[in-house]
Amino acid sequence: MARSLPAEHDARGQVPGGTVTFLFTDIEGSTKLLERLRAKYAELLADHGEILRSAFVQWHGHEVDTQGDAFFVTFSRAADAIACVIAAQRALASHDWPDGVAVRVRMALHTGEPMISDAKYVGIDVHVAARIASAGHGGQVLLSQSTQSLVHGDLPPGATLRNLGPHELKDIRLPQQIFQLDIAGLPTDFPALRTFASAPQLPPHNLPARSTDLVGRDRELETIREHMLQPETRLLTLTGPGGAGKTRLGVEAAVALLAAFRDGVFFIDLSSVAHPHLVASAVAQILGLHETGAEPVLESLKRFLRSRHVLLVLDNFEHVLPAAADVVELIESCPSLKVLATSREPLHLQLERDVPVHPLAVPDLRRPQTAAALGECSSLALFVQRARAAQPDFTLNEGNVRSVAEICVRLDGLPLAIELVAARMKVLTPAAILARLDRQLMLLSSGERHFPGRHRTLQATIDWSYELLTPGEQALFRRFATFAGGWTLRAAEAVADVSELNVLEGIDALLDKSLLWRGTQPDAEPRFGMLETVRAFARNQLEASGERETTRHRHAAYFLAQAERLDSELLGPRQTPSLDLLERELDNIRAALEWSQDTDRVTGLRLASALWLFWFLRGRLSEGRGRIEGFLATAEPSRSARAKALFAAGFLAQSQGDYDAALAMHQESAAIYRELGDRAGSGLALFGLGRVAYEQGKLAAARELLEESLMIAREFKDETAIGLRVTSLAHVALEASDLVRARALFDEGLSRWRRLGGRQGVAYALSGLGDVLRVEGDAAAARPLYEEALAIQRGLGDRANMPITLRRLGFVTLEQGDLPAAGAYLEEALTLSEELGSRSGLATSLEAVAALAAQRRPSDAIRLAGAAAALRDAKGAAAPASWRTEIAQRLAPALRAVSRGARLAGWAEGQSMTTENAVACAITTARAIGNEAASRTDATPLSPREREIVTLVAQGLTSRQIADRLVVTERTVDTHLEHVRDKLGVRSRAQITAWAAASGILGPR
Ligand SMILES: Nc1ncnc2c1ncn2[C@@H]1O[C@H](COP(=O)(O)OP(=O)(O)OP(=O)(O)O)[C@@H](O)[C@H]1O
Ligand SMILES: [Mg+2]
Repeated sequence: MARSLPAEHDARGQVPGGTVTFLFTDIEGSTKLLERLRAKYAELLADHGEILRSAFVQWHGHEVDTQGDAFFVTFSRAADAIACVIAAQRALASHDWPDGVAVRVRMALHTGEPMISDAKYVGIDVHVAARIASAGHGGQVLLSQSTQSLVHGDLPPGATLRNLGPHELKDIRLPQQIFQLDIAGLPTDFPALRTFASAPQLPPHNLPARSTDLVGRDRELETIREHMLQPETRLLTLTGPGGAGKTRLGVEAAVALLAAFRDGVFFIDLSSVAHPHLVASAVAQILGLHETGAEPVLESLKRFLRSRHVLLVLDNFEHVLPAAADVVELIESCPSLKVLATSREPLHLQLERDVPVHPLAVPDLRRPQTAAALGECSSLALFVQRARAAQPDFTLNEGNVRSVAEICVRLDGLPLAIELVAARMKVLTPAAILARLDRQLMLLSSGERHFPGRHRTLQATIDWSYELLTPGEQALFRRFATFAGGWTLRAAEAVADVSELNVLEGIDALLDKSLLWRGTQPDAEPRFGMLETVRAFARNQLEASGERETTRHRHAAYFLAQAERLDSELLGPRQTPSLDLLERELDNIRAALEWSQDTDRVTGLRLASALWLFWFLRGRLSEGRGRIEGFLATAEPSRSARAKALFAAGFLAQSQGDYDAALAMHQESAAIYRELGDRAGSGLALFGLGRVAYEQGKLAAARELLEESLMIAREFKDETAIGLRVTSLAHVALEASDLVRARALFDEGLSRWRRLGGRQGVAYALSGLGDVLRVEGDAAAARPLYEEALAIQRGLGDRANMPITLRRLGFVTLEQGDLPAAGAYLEEALTLSEELGSRSGLATSLEAVAALAAQRRPSDAIRLAGAAAALRDAKGAAAPASWRTEIAQRLAPALRAVSRGARLAGWAEGQSMTTENAVACAITTARAIGNEAASRTDATPLSPREREIVTLVAQGLTSRQIADRLVVTERTVDTHLEHVRDKLGVRSRAQITAWAAASGILGPR
């Protein structure tokens, strides 16, 4: 559903490309204004245009289109777009309008990566932006989620965002999160959005959007629904031949089941997953669990899903049948999990329920039937639906119905085959199609209805469709088989290398012929792909054409260039989108790495090492290190490529706690760089060496190494490297108790990261400054710094670093005597550490709660410390010295408070606790301490978090909206609300709201 708008050419005749933020504006009630002002309306319109245009110019907006009072403008930076709408709304509000009328302009911002065709923007993003604009009211500024995620950490003063929740927009399949920009001094209360329909409160899901209506399948859907709702059904497999419609049916069934899985329904496309052992990781990625490297992914998955009501849709399982064992393990350890699989063959599991998916019904040609009666048959209905996409006025009539019916019979009712053939209706009549098909299918005995026959029908149909392509389209089509998990237009242009046709047009032609699909993820660049059966065919063609190697070579080169380009962006303002982009391309990257292994190891080595920060930041430590080391052992790269790879592998090894290996690799890397006289490279290796020295407690050496590496970064004015090295040095100074120097360095780091727009770095430096203040004993000053760091990490979804900041907040609030806050922070740290699955992280969080409990519940404190110690016994889970000292000091009162016998017994009890029990015990302890303190010191029995949630309930937000606002799961919000209900002795949300108003926690109105 591409919508295109004319684009005014700028001086260079181009519109901004890449990621752009769209702004749509228009005057509310312009017709009324015109009727009222008559001649003076022109004056109003001129003033309005002048005000807006001067804001566009000031903030580098590119005016794409104007229609009457409506503007369409694009910006290269989302922050400029925000500054522009603020300036424009302020100027509009303060302007002196004719006859004192008020001119209210609605504005909407949405960020995307549209395609540009003929100097016009095309694609779903333009559509989304326009729809959001029409949902708003005069004076209101609305943002889509994609714009919000780019700007929310960095809004100009006086501007705040408000989450209006998910809304369904006309013609846009999936509900969109919409945010309102509140501008200080301007109205912020507006009526409900004028959306298509207020989206029902759906659980989270990632089900692919469907761009056509489902044909038939009512009975199948009902069967699947019934089965899936029975408690004893845990795994249902839709089986059937390729192209029979299993995926489509599975997705539709999942949509119908959404309401039954409150924690979400997740679709995992396994067709491009290369090995059965990567299935768990594919699922984890979709669930947003970043691997920590600390434990097998399957374990993290089990822990995450253990108490969640989730439906996983595992699509195209036939590729990874050995992974069935993982599915069984998951199902057995997660009582509320259900799985819907699609597969060409059953998984052969005892607990599996198998539902065969037959192709669509075909008519009985021996009986005479009318066109209308035949049109009811689902295979014909699908043919008509698809034929209309090619030729909108197509209808079945007595003249053509016989041919269409015969086509459907010939094609065994296989939806994919029907789709491919009907797409040809632009140029061929049904009778002509039938004649050509006949020739193609002649070898097949049409009476056969068993599996191999259908398989051959489908192959023959794809072949038929391929033969009808132009040679250029054929080349494009077969070369696309190199991609795994889809591709973007840019990638297609780089990899296809066809001179005879324009790639975008070629893609359009293949889309028209149903040989490709187009993904409509609202926030990302458009993606194209092939259904698996079609891809297998294309792969064979590629093989036969002899172009396989050269195409794969271009494929690897493209992803290498992309990875090397993004290498420097992974710590800057575009960190999240860049990481997400690499994540989306991970199947392609893995495919390129695999191919390189046999043919071009140097490319593989460079690709794997360029991704060092990606492997690190997304917790794929062992995969990254393993791949680099594999290539290092066999490739013969240039000296400098080898040195970079050694640094990358050393960095990952250090992050895994393998200091000896890290040291050896960094040393070799440093030696090569020195020998080459490569100073920038030497700086990198020295940085690696310095970090290892720091981790090993060799502070003087660390300082010397890092200082030299910093000096080199400064010579090259490499801002990211300076930022990283300055903050590392700051930590060394802090560890060495040189507080003056630590503060100066963190300050420098902070201002650098702010200037660079690296929000993760900003949070890191802020919490470092907090550490300095805390060591100085100024908890009150440290707290807001940690809070700011936490807010940034929440915004980034940086779950790996959040527990660290939460624990620091737990300790400063403890020092301030704010026990309810301390309990809440440490409880959250604990829950997150548990979800992340790092043993040492969990042990640290348990120790933090033990410290909290030391004075008030000494026996619990000792038990928790014992449980933590048991976790610490594992390799790589040792705590740094400074933490050990801090915990020992904080636990001392507990040890003094109980007898020696009780101490030993408590410790032993803790050591033998299961992890689960230890976590439960810690949560109870943290809560009890918080609650006791709260009821002593405050009339409000609620924890700060609960108060925050109650305030939002009183503002009318649903649990889902609250969860989004606070960046926690909905389940967490519900748990808090359950506690609130218990504590206050109330049942309904209305009662909670009434209590909030009466208690005064809402503050003066
Ligand atoms: N009932 C239906 N209504 C409309 N379109 C359908 C229907 N069933 C299948 N299709 C379309 O037919 C094509 C093939 O279907 P699908 O991809 O679901 O097959 P599959 O059985 O999953 O194949 P494979 O085994 O290759 O994965 C898709 O484009 C799909 O959208
Ligand atoms: Mg499928």
